[in-house]
Amino acid sequence: MSAASSSSSAVFEGLLDAGRQLESELVAFRRDLHRNPELSLQESETAAKVAAELRALGYEVRTGMGAHGMIADLIGPVAGPTVALRADMDALPIQEETGLPFASEKAGVMHACGHDAHTTMLLGAARLLAEQKDKLRGRVRFIFQSAEEINAGARLMVEAGVLDGVDEIYGLHNLPTLAAGKVATRFGSLMGSVDRIDIALEGKGGHGAIPDQTIDPVVAGSAIVMGLQTAVSREISPFSPVVVTIGKLHAGDAYNVIPHRAELTGTIRTFHPDVQRTMQERIERLAGSIAEAYRCKAKVTYTEMSPVLVSTDACVAHVEQVTDALIGRDNRVEAAPTLAGEDFAIYLQQVPGCFFWLGSGPQEGAEQAFGLHHPKFTLHEECLPLGASLLAAVALKRLSAG
Ligand code: NI
Repeated sequence: MSAASSSSSAVFEGLLDAGRQLESELVAFRRDLHRNPELSLQESETAAKVAAELRALGYEVRTGMGAHGMIADLIGPVAGPTVALRADMDALPIQEETGLPFASEKAGVMHACGHDAHTTMLLGAARLLAEQKDKLRGRVRFIFQSAEEINAGARLMVEAGVLDGVDEIYGLHNLPTLAAGKVATRFGSLMGSVDRIDIALEGKGGHGAIPDQTIDPVVAGSAIVMGLQTAVSREISPFSPVVVTIGKLHAGDAYNVIPHRAELTGTIRTFHPDVQRTMQERIERLAGSIAEAYRCKAKVTYTEMSPVLVSTDACVAHVEQVTDALIGRDNRVEAAPTLAGEDFAIYLQQVPGCFFWLGSGPQEGAEQAFGLHHPKFTLHEECLPLGASLLAAVALKRLSAG
C-alpha cells in the first residue's frame, strides 16, 4: 500500500465508495423491515433478521440485551478504546398512508420515524468496518436497541450492561427536513428532556344541578390546566424553552353528574438539565395549591423518562471533522434545537458521545416531505449508504492509527 493510499482521505473515499456499492442491498433490507414493522418491545422478528445478518458477517451476537436489543463487537488486532455505535429498531402505532409498494403490511403499525433506516445503516457500517478490522486500534461495539419510541429501550440496555467498557458512543437520526446528502450537528443540547406527569384529582361527586353539595374536580382540573402554563410563562426565563402539555384529561361519564374524580396526564419538555430538575417541584406546588383552592385533593406523579440530550464537545468536533472529510464542509449545517425527545440521551449520561442528524429529505427547492411520525412520512433512500459510511468513518477515524 502506498503512502498516499493509506492517508485518511483515501480511507474516507474508500468508505464512501464501499457504502455506495452496498446501496441496493441496504435498500432491499430496509424495505423488508419497512413492510414488517414491530412496535416497541415487540421487535423479535426485526432483531432476528439483524442477528442473522451480523452472524453472516462473522460477528458474535449477544441477543436479549434489554428486551430485543443486541450487541456485537468488532475487535481490532491492537488494544485501544471501545467506540459504540447505536441504532433503534422499533416502529410506531400509526396507520401508514404513503401508498408505497413496500408500505407496512401490518395494520396500524408503521416505521414512521425511519428506525428501519437506522437499523439498516448500522448493519451497513458493521459490514464496512468488518472489512477494515485490521486497521482498528481498539473495539467497535454495535448496539441495536429496542423501544426507543417509548423511552424504555436505552435504559434497559444500560441496565443490561451494554456500555460496560465503552469509552464513547455515537448515533444518528434521519431528518426529512434536511436534504439527503447533508448532515446537521450541534454542540451542547440538541434535543429536549421528556418527563410525564399524572395528576389524580379527588373531589366529591353529586348532582349536576346541585353543585353546592359537591366538590367539583372538573372545575379544579380546568384551573390546573390553565395554571400550569404559568410555570412556563411566569417562573422560567423566556430564554429557557419549556413546554407543558396536558394531552389527556378524563373526568365523568354523564352530562348531568359532577364526577368524583378527574385525571390529567401530560408531558414536560425542557432544553436545559438545570430547568428539568426544577419542574417536579413547580408542577407539584401549582397543581397541589390550585386543587386545594378548589377544595380538591391532588396526587401528582412525576416521572422522568429521558434527560436533555447533550452531546460532548470533543465528540461533536470529531463527528464534524469526519463529516467534512467524507462529504465536504458545504454539506454540513448547524442543527436547530428541538424539544422532541430521544432516549440516546440516557447513554450520554453515562459516557461521552455525539448524536447528530442525517438528511433524509428532498433537495432544497423541492416540495417538502412529510415529517417524522406522520402517516405519509417517507425518506430518500440515498441516505442509507451515506449513513452506513458515516457511522463506519466515525468509528474508524477514532480507532485508526492515523
Ligand atoms: Ni426516531
